[in-house]
Amino acid sequence: MKTVLELLTEQFEAAFEQCGYDKKYAKVTLSNRPDLCEYQCNGAMAAVKEYKKAPIMIATDVVEKLKDNDVFEEITAVNPGFINMKVSGKFISDFVNAMSLDENLGVEKNNPAKTIIIDYGGANVAKPLHVGHLRPAVIGESIKRLCRFAGDKVIGDVHLGDWGMPIGLIIEQLRDEQPELVYFDESYTGEYPAEPPFDITELERIYPFASKRSKEDAEFKERAHQATLKLQEGLPAFRAIWEHIMKVSVTDLKKNYGNLNVDFDLWYGESTADPLIKPMVDDMIEKGFAYESQGAMVVDVKEETDTKEYPPCIVRKSDGAALYATSDLATIIQRVRDYDPDLMVYITDKRQEMHFDQVFRVARKVGLVSEKNKLTFHGNGTMNGKDGKPFKTRDGGVMRLEMLLKDISDAVYEKIMENRSVEEEEARKTAKIVGLAALKYGDLSNQIGKDYIFDIERFISFEGNTGPYILYTIVRIKSILAKYAELGKDAKAINPQVNSIQTASEKALMIELSKFNEMIKNAYEELAPHKVCSYIFNLSDAFNTFYHDNRIMAEEDEKKQAGYINLLETTKKTLEKSIDILGFEAPERM
Ligand code: ARG
Repeated sequence: MKTVLELLTEQFEAAFEQCGYDKKYAKVTLSNRPDLCEYQCNGAMAAVKEYKKAPIMIATDVVEKLKDNDVFEEITAVNPGFINMKVSGKFISDFVNAMSLDENLGVEKNNPAKTIIIDYGGANVAKPLHVGHLRPAVIGESIKRLCRFAGDKVIGDVHLGDWGMPIGLIIEQLRDEQPELVYFDESYTGEYPAEPPFDITELERIYPFASKRSKEDAEFKERAHQATLKLQEGLPAFRAIWEHIMKVSVTDLKKNYGNLNVDFDLWYGESTADPLIKPMVDDMIEKGFAYESQGAMVVDVKEETDTKEYPPCIVRKSDGAALYATSDLATIIQRVRDYDPDLMVYITDKRQEMHFDQVFRVARKVGLVSEKNKLTFHGNGTMNGKDGKPFKTRDGGVMRLEMLLKDISDAVYEKIMENRSVEEEEARKTAKIVGLAALKYGDLSNQIGKDYIFDIERFISFEGNTGPYILYTIVRIKSILAKYAELGKDAKAINPQVNSIQTASEKALMIELSKFNEMIKNAYEELAPHKVCSYIFNLSDAFNTFYHDNRIMAEEDEKKQAGYINLLETTKKTLEKSIDILGFEAPERM
């Protein structure tokens, strides 16, 4: 379906042409003076230069052609040359009707569909998810859903940090703690045990401990380094330990991401790309892209137009070890080989921007990607505490994501129990759903690159620009629809359509609703979930005003009432689709 702005622009294009003006001036936009009009066209102002006429004369010509058109309720040329308009009730209700009959609420699927890989999450094995992992996970999940809704084939990859030194550290720490394990018996030739020698709790103790130890104990560090090299060479005993780490960690990560309503199609990681690294770097050397600098192999990434310093990208360290950048480069090879994607999107903390800049430049320079395979980085801002510094636990430690989720759902639980007498079990369930929505909305309503403050009181408030407010609106609609259904009435049979406008608040609601396909288009083009948030906030406001101004259940005219119900149904579907894109859901009651 075309968007309202496209439909209105078409009307204007015809009118501009009839008057002898170029249709390129006919663009209609939303009004930036909602007190005066709903939409506007400022094209006459721009056309002055070409036609050497006062803009008000051009605007008046165009309005003359459109004033009897039943699309408009009101259309006026105002000084110095703007055209302001209000659309007719019929136009907007016809639009909303068409939207309500369309399974995608008026959004046209991309044709042809693009193939997109989204790299988000960024978890590291043997380490618990902490608050720093929240934003990439929540944003990436939403972008994935947004692109899917737009019709693309989207693959989400968690891209685990599952290779290199951290694994060597775990192996050597394990050796010191449990030297009797068969993995450390060099004469052992049998099968390795299927059961891991640790659980997630132990693993999450071992790794940070070993990591800290390596900073003080050079001998230990060197052993870990050697173990890492042996693992990379494929030593079966160390491979077996690595597989245990993977299994234990990934099971735990799946559970934790699951609690965030985040899931990945691929659980690949740095290890997946590892076999591609050596041939890749050898090739870069052979083709003359990589050269030696202070013992390391580097690729220059400077470009003439640069305004800041771009250091060369190191692709192989002097000791032969691979690096973060190399691993990302090899992953690009794997992604192009397996999917030949139109776009690869990376979502991580914005402090990694230089890393990705370098990686993308090398990838293009050495030809790992073709013109078709675009690469984009969306660096997220930080979630800060009220002190403006990265969010910490009360005692200044790194906050586990699990704890953050628990804190927010506990706070919602208290609130639910304060207000009403719901069964405890239901309150717990609801609190989890509402808490997640509060957290995700609090995050996604900010532009990706901006920092924001985690303010639990504000996030869980049922009023204002919050997740719970949106859910509350949906729950309210659900309850009206349930009451109507209890009467045994079938709205669609009584009146297949929404009413053509009776009241101002009804029209305002339809206008907000009608912006859905336009909003999706914009959010998709910019990969900007915050646009979905501001849309549903305005839509919820418009609905709540409508609800206060109109008597729905008490309406005696059955047909009119059924029209209202259809409007509610469409509002509900639109809100539900939107929150699904944001990655959360609404409870039955609140
Ligand atoms: N594991 C990395 C970290 O903790 C994030 C990975 C982001 N994705 C990537 N392709 N580099 O910083």
